[in-house]
Amino acid sequence: MIQTRTDELSTSFLRRALQCVILQSHRQRWAGLLADALPTPCFLTGKNVLITGASKGVGEQAAAIVAEQAQCKRLVIASRTRPSNNARLAAKATFIPLDLDSKASIRAFVDALAAPPLDVLILNAAVVGLNAYQTNVLGNAALVQALIDAGKLSSTARIVCVTGDIYITEKNCTPDFTGNVARCYARSKLGLNWYAMALQEKYPALEVCLVHPGVIYTDLVPTSSVVVKYARQAVEVDARTGAWSVVIVASVPSSEFKKGGYAHNVMGWCTFAKDDPVNFAERRRVFCEDLAMRAKL
Ligand SMILES: NC(=O)c1ccc[n+]([C@@H]2O[C@H](COP(=O)([O-])OP(=O)(O)OC[C@H]3O[C@@H](n4cnc5c(N)ncnc54)[C@H](OP(=O)(O)O)[C@@H]3O)[C@@H](O)[C@H]2O)c1
Repeated sequence: MIQTRTDELSTSFLRRALQCVILQSHRQRWAGLLADALPTPCFLTGKNVLITGASKGVGEQAAAIVAEQAQCKRLVIASRTRPSNNARLAAKATFIPLDLDSKASIRAFVDALAAPPLDVLILNAAVVGLNAYQTNVLGNAALVQALIDAGKLSSTARIVCVTGDIYITEKNCTPDFTGNVARCYARSKLGLNWYAMALQEKYPALEVCLVHPGVIYTDLVPTSSVVVKYARQAVEVDARTGAWSVVIVASVPSSEFKKGGYAHNVMGWCTFAKDDPVNFAERRRVFCEDLAMRAKL
């Protein structure tokens, strides 16, 4: 069972970062977002599931857990490149290429997706880079809109958006921002949070939530220094541990799922403080109006 916090999420990035890295995997287990087996009953049983960004890192491990442990009807994995080192995953999942930076690719992906409609969508793919808005926000919004328009998303689908606590360092998300890569990434995660909440409000029958999977040792932020690699491995969790947060949120029965909620790897379901940037209503409105126009294929 995922823990639910009654107090609000801190708006201090330092506090959230410390909460995350100290004994991360131990606290993740306490929060109910790290387990050895999927919850029973499992929401994924008999369902059509899509995981984006499944070629490596968290997405690949999430797909492996789902392939090994969930009795899905169909598991589709999507990214620009095929997962190369996971033979079991290849046997149980269908790979369809998808580049979230390209509307033509999104269209081709949706065309290639056979019936029946998807029941579970895990929006995991992301980049840290100057094009973070394009991939992490616009790409996801265009994909969801294209699936809805093509009748390829169930009206009661569950959509798990993989976000990151780093959004708390930013106050806005705009497509034209050209700061450094870290800020572009953080702003894109704030944008994704706004998008997810607006999507839940627009389609109340959907089950939409955000999940922060932890601070994880993956290629998202490449490291060349050996010292930094060791330091990261000491404090960050591995991709499999991070993937559990995502898969558990996708698997809990609807009675345990918080629509529009934020599942935090070491704190469970959380509520936002009033002054959290997620609650900047006017900026969110302007952002969502603009995104809706841009996301049309
Ligand atoms: N690592 C962390 O500490 C951390 C912390 C908080 C949140 N997260 C979130 O966790 C999720 C997974 O991150 P990760 O650490 O596993 O990163 P990763 O190892 O770099 O994997 C990113 C995945 O996204 C895919 N991707 C990138 N650009 C794409 C595009 N244009 N179209 C389609 N797929 C694309 C990549 O596949 P291709 O390159 O083959 O396309 C890859 O499979 C992300 O949403 C990230 O923001 C990570």
